Amino acid sequence: MSPSTSIISNQPFLLKDQYGDASTIDLRRNLYERFGTNPEHLSRWMFTEIEALVDGNILEVGTGPGTWWVENVDRIPSGVSALRSDFSHGMILEARERTQAMLPNLGYARLYAQAIPLRSESQDLILANHMIYHIPDKEAAFKEFHRILKPGASLCATANGRNHMQIVGNLWKGHLPRGFRKTVGPPTESGFLAG
Ligand SMILES: C[S@@+](CC[C@H](N)C(=O)[O-])C[C@H]1O[C@@H](n2cnc3c(N)ncnc32)[C@H](O)[C@@H]1O
Repeated sequence: MSPSTSIISNQPFLLKDQYGDASTIDLRRNLYERFGTNPEHLSRWMFTEIEALVDGNILEVGTGPGTWWVENVDRIPSGVSALRSDFSHGMILEARERTQAMLPNLGYARLYAQAIPLRSESQDLILANHMIYHIPDKEAAFKEFHRILKPGASLCATANGRNHMQIVGNLWKGHLPRGFRKTVGPPTESGFLAG
């Protein structure tokens, strides 16, 4: 698996133009909330699927503004020890601001999924939601996930489907100002540059 050079995994670009703070994620979320048709939030659906695994030491990589925790605040077990991480300092600040009052015992760290400074075989669960497609060297990241998970422990990840937001992608195709299109490129197959 060779490191990807696609714009969707261009880490300096993502850090500077997409994920310096939560504003682009909030814009997308606003679209889902206004026009989405699924009555259940994805984070709540996912929690139900993996409920039995949500225990012990949990590392979340690419936590963003912490939506998974906000949506599931009423069902996080009290004994959980979670470290929520992101490569963006701005995102960590946002996640902390949005959840610290509700979940005061969770930790935060700035780290890249490709190089995780945690002990081997120390984690019971890794969450990686809508972020694996951003990692340029996925092999390095999966090696790290494997190294830090206890034997038999789990990695749970979500990602966009192939036709995610395709209608919006089609709508904006051909309508971007020239300079913008040159910088960002066409919409990805998922319809949006960054999930
Ligand atoms: C689309 S957002 C998803 C946020 C959150 N997990 C969610 O599902 O709402 C992707 C997140 O991954 C982070 N990210 C991107 N590349 C990363 C990397 N190599 N290591 C850690 N975090 C990364 C970004 O800063 C951003 O917060």
